[in-house]
Amino acid sequence: MTTFRPVLILALAGAQLSRGGEARLMPLMPAPWKAAAADGRLAITSGFSVAASGYTDARLESAMRRLVARVSRQTGIPISFSKATAANATLVIECGQRGPEYPTLGEDETYQLDVSAQGSTIKAVTVTGALRGMETFAQLIGPGADGFEAPAIHVDDKPRFPWRGLMLDVSRHWMPLEVVERNLDAMAAVKLNVFHWHLADDQGFRVESKRYPRLQELGSDGHFYTQDEVRRVIAYARGRGIRVVPEFDIPGHTTSWFVGYPELASAPGPYHIERSWGIFQPTMDPTREQIYTFLDGFFGEMTALFPDPYFHIGGDEVDDTQWKTSPSIQAFAREHNLPATEDLHGYFNQRVQALLKKYGKTMIGWDETLRPGLAPDTVIQSWRGQASLASAAKSGYRGILSFGYYLDHLRPASFHYAVDPLDGAGRELNGEQAARILGGEACMWSEYVSVETVDSRIWPRMAAMAERFWSPRETTDVRSMYARLEMVGRLLEWAGAQVRANQGRMLARMASGRPVEPLRFLADASESAIIDVRRSAHKYTSDIPLNRLVDVVQPESESIRRLDQAAANAASGSATPAELAELRAAFTSWAENNIRLEPVAGNALIEELKPLSKNLSTAGAIGMRALGYLKGGAEPPDGWIAQQSTTLGAMASPSAEVTLAAVRPVKALLDALAHRASSGLSR
Ligand code: ACM
Repeated sequence: MTTFRPVLILALAGAQLSRGGEARLMPLMPAPWKAAAADGRLAITSGFSVAASGYTDARLESAMRRLVARVSRQTGIPISFSKATAANATLVIECGQRGPEYPTLGEDETYQLDVSAQGSTIKAVTVTGALRGMETFAQLIGPGADGFEAPAIHVDDKPRFPWRGLMLDVSRHWMPLEVVERNLDAMAAVKLNVFHWHLADDQGFRVESKRYPRLQELGSDGHFYTQDEVRRVIAYARGRGIRVVPEFDIPGHTTSWFVGYPELASAPGPYHIERSWGIFQPTMDPTREQIYTFLDGFFGEMTALFPDPYFHIGGDEVDDTQWKTSPSIQAFAREHNLPATEDLHGYFNQRVQALLKKYGKTMIGWDETLRPGLAPDTVIQSWRGQASLASAAKSGYRGILSFGYYLDHLRPASFHYAVDPLDGAGRELNGEQAARILGGEACMWSEYVSVETVDSRIWPRMAAMAERFWSPRETTDVRSMYARLEMVGRLLEWAGAQVRANQGRMLARMASGRPVEPLRFLADASESAIIDVRRSAHKYTSDIPLNRLVDVVQPESESIRRLDQAAANAASGSATPAELAELRAAFTSWAENNIRLEPVAGNALIEELKPLSKNLSTAGAIGMRALGYLKGGAEPPDGWIAQQSTTLGAMASPSAEVTLAAVRPVKALLDALAHRASSGLSR
């Protein structure tokens, strides 16, 4: 019989489970609501098998096959799928019932997972719950002393919020089917359940319309999903317990519609697919009946294609220039007493909402759509702040938070992790109002990402947000989050996402046959600067390739995070020999890296990196000396610390849209030296 150790709530204890006296951090993300480590471990061998002992169907059977293939990839052990029975399978799935045919908001996703040396069981009410449990099981598997294994554990788990999403913009940069599918795999791996597909914007209309074919024929550069492909994505997502919510952003962000149908716009055309980024004037004319006839036909077609009951109409960033300069629109506004732009936009939304209602759909819009007169079932997606979400909830509307979850801003995972859908004005909501906050969605706008880089901008940071949406609110330990994020980030690669897969290829392209290593050191010591830096550096368009170092480097450098920790420990005198060795090795290689990069120079992709590379070497040289003073015998000469701090300070500004993260651990050592000097302590 399995004996449970005192219950450790992963969420509170940071997933630090003790097993047989040895502490091992489990790569569980999102952290389960309850997890208790037990004695023993389940060996994962080529005989690994899965069987269903309760309800089963095609969806569960496919998921079981996928799990076997995934475990095989993740461990490198050849495992073939074999029909096992509940009596002899390594993992037995006891599922109570099918649950909804199509993933449904608020469906039962609970599961219990038990792993012991003898075997493992997932108990779930529905197939979706079983899927969630299988992902937890896969995360537990790692190499142990005797080969791959899963630690003995009891997990009891459920989601905090029913709406846990990722929005992907496929308009500004085209994202082919395989990008969508591999990101759905990664979403499933961290228990996300809504794929919000931003399908049309100024830069491209991405779905085949049979009724209005000029939409994709003239508005997409040939990059669009056929209706069969859309159905394929929906089936793929459904198999993974993920809803697909389409967004057709109207009345603004609509240039691509007008290339084929200029008569929908508020000003005469002709229109061309937009190639640059920003907010543009082309806007649908809300005053002409012809528009609503068109939208009726369009919604009729699209609501039949997308089974989800929710339909997103965008509604953000409406530029009113065309409305203000059109005499007929102004006359309409006067006649109907719609004096402000917001009034006209509100009128448009109500007309659109009536059409969607006819097709049985519930409307979602960005928070600009929140105006009096919307139907009470409308869902508001807030990108401009928590206040608008709270205000919507107080007025009876449901909402989801995206403010604070913009992946394209390239902020650290800790920044997003600290944002809670019920923070800020959300704290003032009573229970009934708070229950209207359905959850959150991270947004991957695609101005600065391509097929090659998009996964590395979504993952692993998205996993930290998935934890915010799934795990208890009190799950806020940032160190635990980062420790698990690194592990889960690597597992996501086996789940299908190209988190790091393209980095080496892109660096090799930059080096063009010359040594890649010095470039890799530079990349590992760097972070892509936040989006504002990029926006102001260049006038980007969809024709500008995203093939530079800034596109290769991660928003957060894992190597530097480790060195930050080592430097903090060195500063406080608690660094381990391994940490000191790691600091020394990093500083030495940085100091020599600039010379090593020289033979690679000569092309534009490398030339722009010269100042950054020189700075890295300077930082390495300062770091070596600082570490020497801190750990060795001598005091630095007078003025040395101040001088080096000034030098490092000057390196803090981004170069080639990249931030030299290597400055941080070096600065920490200098600060420790300064502190030692000022407190009169010497070693
Ligand atoms: C948005 O970011 N304009 C929704």
